[in-house]
Amino acid sequence: MSKVTVIDHPLVQHKLSLLRDKDTGSKAFRELVNELALLMGYEVTKNLPLVEKTIDTPMQPATVHVLANEKIAVVPILRAGLGMADGIMNLIPNAKLGHIGLYRNPDTLMPTSYYCKLPSDIEERETIIVDPMLATGNSAIEAVNVVKKAGSKSIRLVCLIAAPEGIYAMQKAHNDVDIYVASIDEKLNDHGYIVPGLGDAGDRLFGTK
Ligand code: URA
Repeated sequence: MSKVTVIDHPLVQHKLSLLRDKDTGSKAFRELVNELALLMGYEVTKNLPLVEKTIDTPMQPATVHVLANEKIAVVPILRAGLGMADGIMNLIPNAKLGHIGLYRNPDTLMPTSYYCKLPSDIEERETIIVDPMLATGNSAIEAVNVVKKAGSKSIRLVCLIAAPEGIYAMQKAHNDVDIYVASIDEKLNDHGYIVPGLGDAGDRLFGTK
């Protein structure tokens, strides 16, 4: 079964609380999402394997540790995932950025990919999918389907807030994908929103409501 990590670092929890507040405007909301993604990225990358390497310091040769695989792909799910991309990219500037756009098929109500541009060598990369809200889980599940189809073998999912329903669905569909969140909230409401949550992450990020 995949691992679910709730990142309970005080800075993460403090910033998440500011984010949830309905009086937090778009500018502050974007800044907080960016900061949260960076702080969470630190935890998400904590177990990346290291290898030993010998280098020369100005003093003498030294055996040091470097990432075994420096190839990382960060994949935001459009549109709200974009808000988290820069934060993680600041932490891992050499990562490549992919994008997945999903819309809800009006007949099946299931998410369908309308846009997908991934690094061409994604099969060699550690893939980090980002989306602020893990609600029903349907979008994240489809995003994982897409990156797996493209060849990705090692995938992590990073969300700010998850509903228990979304975590359950994700683990059922992809039990090899570790999930990192700042909070697991109470539940989904009848409209598929997480409560207490923070409202519509995309609208709050981009000021579209
Ligand atoms: N997407 C959001 O932006 N918010 C929710 O609560 C659920 C899905």
